[in-house]
Amino acid sequence: MTPAQPRLFITGTDTGVGKTVVAAATIAALRTRGLRVAAIKPVVTGLDEPEPGRPPDHELLAAAAGADPADVTLRTFGPAVSPHLAAELAGEPLEPSALVAAAEACAAGAEVVVGEGAGGLLVPLDGAYLMRDYARDLAMDVLIAARPGLGTINHTLLTIEAARAVGLYVAGVVLTPWPEEPGLVERSNRVTIASLGDVTVATLAQTGTSVADLARSGATLPLDDWLAGASARS
Ligand SMILES: Nc1ncnc2c1ncn2[C@@H]1O[C@H](COP(=O)(O)OP(=O)(O)O)[C@@H](O)[C@H]1O
Ligand SMILES: [Mg+2]
Repeated sequence: MTPAQPRLFITGTDTGVGKTVVAAATIAALRTRGLRVAAIKPVVTGLDEPEPGRPPDHELLAAAAGADPADVTLRTFGPAVSPHLAAELAGEPLEPSALVAAAEACAAGAEVVVGEGAGGLLVPLDGAYLMRDYARDLAMDVLIAARPGLGTINHTLLTIEAARAVGLYVAGVVLTPWPEEPGLVERSNRVTIASLGDVTVATLAQTGTSVADLARSGATLPLDDWLAGASARS
């Protein structure tokens, strides 16, 4: 029998909501347990506008996984725009089958696969091929990175619906960065999303982005629950 290979896809309610931090923390913590983790990100855009003090997503994910950044992603683009537009501007459309094949090649031999999307689930990669189609083609469970504060209930519940509409399993939501002293709004958002979304809601406190910091932060996430569920479905 082939061993189970749990696969987790970190999406978000938006761009800039903490997907990379959640993904890198998850990867670093799993690696600290001695697991071989394949980190994947289909496409990286925005290399022309780096975030000060932080490497681009595929480099941070690669550092967390102990991998080569070139294996993490198939394509990188300079402009900070949606993948489908970045590819169009470059005159090199994204081939869904090539994106999936690259991810499968990266996943081969790994014990766990952790992917990060670009933007949210309905972001196009090519034509009508959306980020959620990519996650479904790779048979990944979905985790949703979301902001803790005002506006997050609607965005998170919309994302849950968009995932379930195509049969994706939502393994959980992560509210990030979770404040040291959450106020009424944050605490209420957490309970409301769990109840209306029928989903488990975890939180991730402010973390540094060194691999050691990420591993420590990732260890606070419900990794065992996520892995057990994804193993059962793999
Ligand atoms: N738990 C956290 N600890 C530290 N910074 C965080 C955390 N969650 C989100 N952020 C910050 O929010 C911003 C966006 O996070 P990032 O992971 O790059 O988002 P995305 O991948 O969704 O675009 C970054 O500046 C990041 O450092
Ligand atoms: Mg990111």
